[in-house]
Amino acid sequence: MTYTSSTVRVPDVAAVPRHIAIIMDGNGRWATQRRLPRVAGHTRGVEAVRTVVEACARCGVEYLTLFAFSSENWRRPNDEVSFLMRLFVTALEREVGKLHANGIRLRVVGDLAMFDKRIQDLIKRAETKTARNTRLTLTIAANYGGRWDIMQASRKLAEEAVQAGHAAEISEASFTQHLALAYAPEPDLFIRTGGEQRISNFLLWQMAYTELYFTDIFWPDFDGAALGQAIASYAERERRFGRTSAQLEPQVQNADSLPC
Ligand code: FPP
Repeated sequence: MTYTSSTVRVPDVAAVPRHIAIIMDGNGRWATQRRLPRVAGHTRGVEAVRTVVEACARCGVEYLTLFAFSSENWRRPNDEVSFLMRLFVTALEREVGKLHANGIRLRVVGDLAMFDKRIQDLIKRAETKTARNTRLTLTIAANYGGRWDIMQASRKLAEEAVQAGHAAEISEASFTQHLALAYAPEPDLFIRTGGEQRISNFLLWQMAYTELYFTDIFWPDFDGAALGQAIASYAERERRFGRTSAQLEPQVQNADSLPC
């Protein structure tokens, strides 16, 4: 299935977003407030991931993309980086069976060559095991950066052109096919927890028409109710994709009748 860019075709819109992308921020501050080491916030963050994945599957969200580790996160202290890697491995080992049993497909996107072989093998096995599941696609962005994604897609297009011996026909359609999330529609809703209001090199190309939602809640405290509030806020937005209000069909979205 290939999806068209929102700048080429207006996508169908429903009250529940098909694709939610989240920057899970505030783990460190959550822990510091409780006089705990920062990494305790990451451990609690994994529990919030579990809660939000379950809530999305229940609500009929089809794609959930979580920013677990950015290409810039290597700048953190070494022990925090190694802790995050270990947490990632443990979560993969422990949770994949449950994801599979619940019909969830797992994908991991990012420059995975930077991770050690054991992590890369675990990722491959988890992706293969869950490949045919259709209820929800959970994408973990790991060593991911929006600019990296745009560059690697450009490089692939250029390689095709070199092989073909002439400049490939470059269009939004051919470009988006090479992006890391080519299998997913563009995010309808972007959520960032932890109070900051920025995109931090997440899905730069894909968020051209995404609705943005920022909350002060720290990620470990983000639960089903908080997700429900974000979705209710989304349901009240008027998504015009460049058109005027008067051109839109009457909005049938009603926050009171949402399934979550
Ligand atoms: C940002 O909080 C969070 C991270 C850089 C890591 C997120 C990782 C997890 C939630 C756990 C692992 C996830 C999976 C999918 C296994 P921060 O440390 O920047 O918090 P701060 O802004 O309060 O310092």
